[in-house]
Amino acid sequence: MTLKLPQIIGHRGSAAYAPENTLEGIRAAADMGIEWVELDVKLTKDDVPIIFHDDTLERTTNGTGAVKDFTLAELKELDAGSWFSEGFYATTIPTLEEALEVLIELDMGLNLEIKPCPGRERETAEIALDVLSQYWDDHDKLLISSFSHVSLEAALEMASDWHRGFLLPEDWPKNWAELAEYLKVSTINLNGNTVSHEDVETALAFGKPILAYTINDEERAQLLQSWGVHGFFSDAPDEIQGAILTVH
Ligand code: G3P
Ligand code: MG
Repeated sequence: MTLKLPQIIGHRGSAAYAPENTLEGIRAAADMGIEWVELDVKLTKDDVPIIFHDDTLERTTNGTGAVKDFTLAELKELDAGSWFSEGFYATTIPTLEEALEVLIELDMGLNLEIKPCPGRERETAEIALDVLSQYWDDHDKLLISSFSHVSLEAALEMASDWHRGFLLPEDWPKNWAELAEYLKVSTINLNGNTVSHEDVETALAFGKPILAYTINDEERAQLLQSWGVHGFFSDAPDEIQGAILTVH
């Protein structure tokens, strides 16, 4: 399976234009002609994979508390849109299943970032991949990534032939290349706003494509591209799209 990586991936859907990690955000990205989105997945208290970024509810819903303490039915009662703008009132937190249905309907690619609540690293990957296996056929258009090496290891064990992306935080672990080798990753995903040219050279020496998060600025995208970065996660993908050179 050859990963058909796009140059632009809508970050959390298209987080500048619709509430992040919602079905509306996926559709907004598709409306802009964006072919792939990045979405974060974690588990509810009753072990349902949902598309959600934070460990807590406050920033992106009208709820309070830790996501891991609520069942899907309780989380579905929340408004996950009004914080973004009134027009998105009553937008709900999607399940992974609901997101996959929309992505398949729109023929989009997916970078699913496993974003486990602390302590749930293995089970989040296992349950999310189990759901994916029931829906997703085209593995040229699917990348599973995580900052959690435990989650990536679970993904490797469950589906070694699915593509994995190694997410590097701002401070790279000293043994990152060793870990990335062990986890047999297809991409290196790094913070494009804090990396130096030298960092990019080091990452390129690993021999896999580099994806940079989260780039909303045309000039930064152009600079990173000149350094050899392959693709960009962007909240405003249309802004970046016009700025970079198209590489086939
Ligand atoms: O996967 C790229 C990017 O989403 C990683 O950071 O915090 O936005 O999930 P974050
Ligand atoms: Mg993410």
